[in-house]
Amino acid sequence: MVMQNNVNITFGTEALLRFTKELQAKDYSSLFLLVDNHTQEFCLPRFVSQTGLTQLEVLVMEAGEEHKTLQTCENLWNQLSERGADRNSALINLGGGVVTDLGGFVACTFKRGIDFYNLPTTLLAMVDASVGGKTGIDLGALKNQIGIIEEPKQVLIDAQWLQTLPQKELRSGFAEMLKHGLISNKDYWEQLKSLPKLEADTLAEFIKPSVAIKKQVVLEDPREKHLRKILNFGHTLGHAIESYYLTHPEKKRLLHGEAIAIGMVMEAYLGVSCCSLSNVAAEEIKKTFAQFYPPVEIDAQDREGILELLRHDKKNKAGRVNFVLLKSIGVPEIDVKVPQELFTQAFEFYGNS
Ligand SMILES: NC(=O)c1ccc[n+]([C@@H]2O[C@H](COP(=O)([O-])OP(=O)(O)OC[C@H]3O[C@@H](n4cnc5c(N)ncnc54)[C@H](O)[C@@H]3O)[C@@H](O)[C@H]2O)c1
Ligand SMILES: [Zn+2]
Repeated sequence: MVMQNNVNITFGTEALLRFTKELQAKDYSSLFLLVDNHTQEFCLPRFVSQTGLTQLEVLVMEAGEEHKTLQTCENLWNQLSERGADRNSALINLGGGVVTDLGGFVACTFKRGIDFYNLPTTLLAMVDASVGGKTGIDLGALKNQIGIIEEPKQVLIDAQWLQTLPQKELRSGFAEMLKHGLISNKDYWEQLKSLPKLEADTLAEFIKPSVAIKKQVVLEDPREKHLRKILNFGHTLGHAIESYYLTHPEKKRLLHGEAIAIGMVMEAYLGVSCCSLSNVAAEEIKKTFAQFYPPVEIDAQDREGILELLRHDKKNKAGRVNFVLLKSIGVPEIDVKVPQELFTQAFEFYGNS
């Protein structure tokens, strides 16, 4: 089945206020709400006061990527079952990308699928995970290996949630927004890069344009056969960097956005070598990321470890690694094969800020 991505995405607090009426019209037999222990503290009280929904069965999971596992799902399936969920129940996911990805998967698989609603509460989940219908969990150290593409009944994006989000989480989501500019819209990139600092109120204005960019891409290529690959800009190296730091707990922990920020700078360098990106543009990209993201020290041993992971990337063919690169800012090129010799220079380009 080809996903149509015609899911209803609404913006603003008004949508939250209307939500109760919409749910009542559906006449669900019971309503479950999934939070993690942070959104339970920071978001659940406001959710209840804004919606007036009190007849809710609240499910709580531990916060963090390390809990995006089958074990958490099993626990939630058991709770749904024990607390009387049936095929006509619905699940509301209130949280970041971990809660919406995992909650979506739990809902799609419980009794062969119950309705679910996503209320993303992090910037990253608002501008990225909320669009495209990917649900899923990790398998050991491998991210998002198990999952289903299934759209929620509705996505409600309310920037008010960002008021309690830690600064480093805001910065993580902002990396995906900068990516949206780099892969599709130079003007948008320029607007974002000239922001004096990252504040929830300012960033809120850019959620809609970012969602529109991702939505357009997913609509044209829901199954990631061609165009959707552009969303992976910065992610080939970025994922290897993220995995490397995840599996080396003695090192500083990098959030997804922080890792792909490094990936985008390095891949900008590769764009100069393997596409037509100008040196000036690559320097502009490097300078912009340096302005928002603290530098990360990547020594020779780390580089080797990261490249080792990259070699195992499933998208590789015959010793060459497949990349999405930039021809110019706003203009991507997919399926560029990059010779591995260039990676050392790309690390140097990142390191010499
Ligand atoms: N489905 C997709 O297309 C897609 C796209 C991008 C990312 N993802 C997935 O999203 C996940 C990352 O999402 P994330 O960055 O939102 O991580 P996350 O869900 O772990 O949230 C980050 C942290 O912020 C806390 N938090 C959430 N909302 C808060 C709020 N309003 N106030 C205070 N704290 C709050 C969370 O408890 C958590 O500790 C990854 O698992 C990734 O694979 C999915
Ligand atoms: Zn990403």
